[in-house]
Amino acid sequence: MTEKATLTMPDGSTYEVPVTVGSEGERALNISRLRADTGYITLDDGYGNTGSCESAITFIDGEQGILRYRGYPVEDIAKHCSFIETAQLLIWGELPSAEDRTRFSDLLTENSTLPEDFRRHFAGFPQHAHPMSILSAMINALQSYDLPGLVINDDEEFERVSAALLSKVRTIAAAAYKSSIGEPIMYPRYDLRYVENFLHMMFSKPYRDYVPSAEATSALNLFLLLHADHEQNCSTSTVRMVASGEASLYASVSAGVCALWGKLHGGANQAVMEMLTYIRESGMSTKDYIAKVKSREDGIKLMGFGHRVYRNFDPRAVILQDACEKLLDSLHITDPRLDIARELAQTALSDDYFISRKLYPNVDFFSGIILTALGIPVEMFTVLFAIGRMPGWIANWKEMHDDPTGRIYRPRQVYTGPTEREWVNRFQRERGMTDSRGFKVPDDLRP
Ligand code: SDX
Repeated sequence: MTEKATLTMPDGSTYEVPVTVGSEGERALNISRLRADTGYITLDDGYGNTGSCESAITFIDGEQGILRYRGYPVEDIAKHCSFIETAQLLIWGELPSAEDRTRFSDLLTENSTLPEDFRRHFAGFPQHAHPMSILSAMINALQSYDLPGLVINDDEEFERVSAALLSKVRTIAAAAYKSSIGEPIMYPRYDLRYVENFLHMMFSKPYRDYVPSAEATSALNLFLLLHADHEQNCSTSTVRMVASGEASLYASVSAGVCALWGKLHGGANQAVMEMLTYIRESGMSTKDYIAKVKSREDGIKLMGFGHRVYRNFDPRAVILQDACEKLLDSLHITDPRLDIARELAQTALSDDYFISRKLYPNVDFFSGIILTALGIPVEMFTVLFAIGRMPGWIANWKEMHDDPTGRIYRPRQVYTGPTEREWVNRFQRERGMTDSRGFKVPDDLRP
């Protein structure tokens, strides 16, 4: 029996709203027929209370600090999976078999290079171009080299395009970095696994290969899989919005890259590192900085803190803090910004300003310290987030693409602009003449 809620409208009439119940017991008032039946729409600034879709990919319980990919707790995924296995789980719904792994690994290798004439596009960007602008543009440009991938009609084509995006996003990112430092773009190698190959393309030179340590590879693998999906966040919702118009997978994830760039979203990892560096270089105490945040001076926020959904610890932040400590120990690196981050967290987590607002460290708070320890420059941090999030964007695009009942996203609005008004000709507007009835327009003023 379908649960129902009853709305009492201002005219006293009642309207029954069916309730949709999710597999974890989440409940939603299904208002799909509200306007047709009552003439009313709902209004929800920032969509904080609005479900845009039913999805079977990722589950978050913000109150409990729970994150699961296709039902598996992220803690288990972090312990047992590679980033690519995580990607296959998210996209196809099950952990890959040995055959799936081999086939997909071969596809990643075969699709890891960029078309030779494509590589010249990097020279078209100024050296100071932000790599997120390059990444979005290049992903969009890629579809000009993969016309069959524009309209995906079968599973095999989808798997190939998915592998191409996952593999090339890494090659484009590294190429953007190399171009920004004026070094030759490195080709991917067929004998390296996903993360090692990325680090090779980032840091090898034509005359000397970069061989990452096992700890570095493991830390980056963890970073990427922890960013792999996160329900209907800003960038994933953007991917779904673009996909709903039946745009290609390339166009949809390219839009996702742009949405991710904002400093309130994926750009926060760069903003956190800039904040920690500012505190260190200014010599300001963490207490003074927290005081500035609380006073809302210049609207500054404690970057890397807070979350629309998590009203408890972000489980990814807990895992990343531990990984951060271990990585720096293994690399014998001390980064004073980690001490500052720890102090900020300790101070904030015992301060009622943050406690009362349920503000905890999120995925971005410690991630930048890991990336810095790996030698990744701060401008590339959000690009690394995009590489990590690619599986989630692809999985959400597929979920929409496979849904025969899917509709184009087209939210409504409550109009608050001027009501209808009479047209006033230009000469009346500019000369302040208001009577347009029967007024003889002087010849030199005819519009
Ligand atoms: C990501 O959605 C996702 O799942 C995103 C993500 C993913 O994996 O895709 O998890 C990745 O984007 C993580 C978030 C990264 N962004 C930041 O770290 C930027 C700093 N955080 C804030 O800007 C903020 O917390 C947001 C954007 C993350 C959430 O904003 P909300 O839900 O709109 O919360 P809000 O702005 O309404 O804040 C509620 C209160 C306000 O105070 P009052 O007006 O009630 O007095 O909390 C305050 C805010 O001023 N507040 C903060 C704060 N975050 C919120 N105060 C200081 N520092 C902060 N970081």
